[in-house]
Amino acid sequence: MSQLVPLLELKDVCRYYTSSEVEVKALDKINLTVMRGEFIAIMGQSGSGKSTLMNILGCLDKPTHGEYLINGQAVAELDAECLSALRLKTFGFVFQRYQLLSNYTAQENVAMPAIYSGMDKSARLTRADELLARLGLAERSLHKPTELSGGQQQRVSVARALINGAEVILADEPTGALDSASGEQLLELLKQLNQEGVTVILITHDPEVAEHADRLIQVKDGVILDDSAEQKREQPTTQQHGHVSEQIKPLPSVGTFESILMAFTALHANWFRTLLTLLGIIIGVAAVVTMMAIGEGGKKQVLERIEAIGTNLILIRPGGANIRSSGDNASLSLEDANALVAIDGASYVAPERSTRATIRFGQYDFSGRIKGTNPDYQFAKDWQLAQGVFFTEADIKSFAPVIILGDTVVKQLFQHGENPIGQYVLMKNAFYQVIGVLQAKGASAGGNDMDDEVLIPVTTGMLKVFGRKHLSSITVKAESTEQVAQVTEAIKSKLVARHGKEDFMVFTTDSLVETVTETQDTLTYLLASVAGISLFVGGIGVMNIMLVNVSERRREIGLRIATGAKPTDILKQFNIEAWVVCILGGLVGIVIGFAVTLLIANFNIPIAYSMTPPLLAFVTSLLVGVIFGYAPAHKAAKLNPIEALAED
Ligand SMILES: Nc1ncnc2c1ncn2[C@@H]1O[C@H](COP(=O)(O)OP(=O)(O)OP(=O)(O)O)[C@@H](O)[C@H]1O
Ligand SMILES: [Mg+2]
Repeated sequence: MSQLVPLLELKDVCRYYTSSEVEVKALDKINLTVMRGEFIAIMGQSGSGKSTLMNILGCLDKPTHGEYLINGQAVAELDAECLSALRLKTFGFVFQRYQLLSNYTAQENVAMPAIYSGMDKSARLTRADELLARLGLAERSLHKPTELSGGQQQRVSVARALINGAEVILADEPTGALDSASGEQLLELLKQLNQEGVTVILITHDPEVAEHADRLIQVKDGVILDDSAEQKREQPTTQQHGHVSEQIKPLPSVGTFESILMAFTALHANWFRTLLTLLGIIIGVAAVVTMMAIGEGGKKQVLERIEAIGTNLILIRPGGANIRSSGDNASLSLEDANALVAIDGASYVAPERSTRATIRFGQYDFSGRIKGTNPDYQFAKDWQLAQGVFFTEADIKSFAPVIILGDTVVKQLFQHGENPIGQYVLMKNAFYQVIGVLQAKGASAGGNDMDDEVLIPVTTGMLKVFGRKHLSSITVKAESTEQVAQVTEAIKSKLVARHGKEDFMVFTTDSLVETVTETQDTLTYLLASVAGISLFVGGIGVMNIMLVNVSERRREIGLRIATGAKPTDILKQFNIEAWVVCILGGLVGIVIGFAVTLLIANFNIPIAYSMTPPLLAFVTSLLVGVIFGYAPAHKAAKLNPIEALAED
């Protein structure tokens, strides 16, 4: 390849603006060739199209017609990602108003474009320091832009233009805001860089500034009026050499960690606003955590009460759906109870028959319910004895005249403090020996005394007290709560087989638990959805603030895009900012939610902790970040850098 390939080549390039009624021809059929190592000044009146030309050269804008080649590669054929890579590697912009990021130090400003070329942090900061030292700003490296003079700021921006090894520096009125001494210094710097091989294209309206350039191009009304290179072209400079155009490939995306760091810097810079945004999420998440804890706590309390009764108890009563139940139905017999013992998973079977009767000891009476049952009763009901023993299977078989008394009954009958064990009490003209005293249970949740129990062997009762041969209920205790359903089914089929019809009813605490769980869950969901709405509102807050954020940082975004950030990098950065807010808010919200729950627990309100609500709240806040962060991030990524950088 012996032929020289120009570095930049414009062929019949036009740029028309058709925003208003009239079409503005900002550039009209521009033909321009820039060789490697040139120092070009573009001059022209205001509105002549200089900036437009510069934007097209820097790939920030596209020609309406015509062709633009860089190293022989047609720019029009490149996609957005490749254009970013091209901008990053080939061009360095120097703006009239420096365009430094005020939250970053000089060093960080210089290093910023290198984030997008994938240089790691320490490498790019070192390189930034080297460049700053070269430009005489070694001591100013850690100063923020507001602490630097205009000339110093402009030199920082030149250093920034150089960090990715730009081949071409595009400077639009770089001395426009500088005093003449600083301007002179800057031009010297550009000249020096040019001698080192950097191509410099600079826009100016000052003929004195233009004099520093080797080549002067005059622009008027979108056309090139005069190009001093027409005469010089014959003597190529030493830097000119044939250049095989290399394939332009998109650069890798900015690392997530890097994006998170940038997010923290941005959020820190606007910490008060960040705090307000966080507040929405914090309140939302804390509300979810607290509400769920209260809802679950209520459920747990009710379930515990049911648990106290025994969740593995099955109650069988005589009578059925089609049989009028008078409570004295004759369908359940002791034989039925005995048959149920064989059922797999039924650990205890306690038959019951009761009647009202009066017991007498000495001069004291007790009138109440007398229950006939078997030894399983104490296990089915989890009832310990305070004194003595329970009756045995042998007592059942022998119709033993023994009796077990509840605490209340003992207090009533043995008022002189006698030991009841071994004493004989009188009931229905027969004596019964007291063999045991039940442990006191106190009042039930409903306020009923549970200690007025009087127990006798069921056989004895049938013979002497009840006068009937059938049972009023059978209580079956399943081995575990899980087995209740299966045992219930077995009981039903066994009894139906024995009776030939379903003349009994089976109740389980399970069905009760189900109802309670359902109602409590409804309550919990209600609370959670109220909390969820507040989280949603918080999410809208995030979106709002992020949109404000994007509008306010348009220049920063424009600058990042101009220096080589891909739209996807911008998208990622702003998405991550929203995520960081939501994750932070989520974490703080969980902590506060737990704190509030603890506080509430002090007021005797039942609460229940579980990992689900905080996890749920956290995931929701993350989702909020993802959903509500997307629109602002998308807006940022679509930003037009020319417009953004032109704003005040
Ligand atoms: N976005 C736009 N929409 C419509 N017209 C535009 C737009 N940008 C620039 N123009 C017009 O294009 C022409 C060239 O503008 P350009 O900014 O390139 O001028 P300039 O030579 O840089 O001027 P100055 O020296 O004032 O910066 C002007 O007439 C301007 O009004
Ligand atoms: Mg301009």
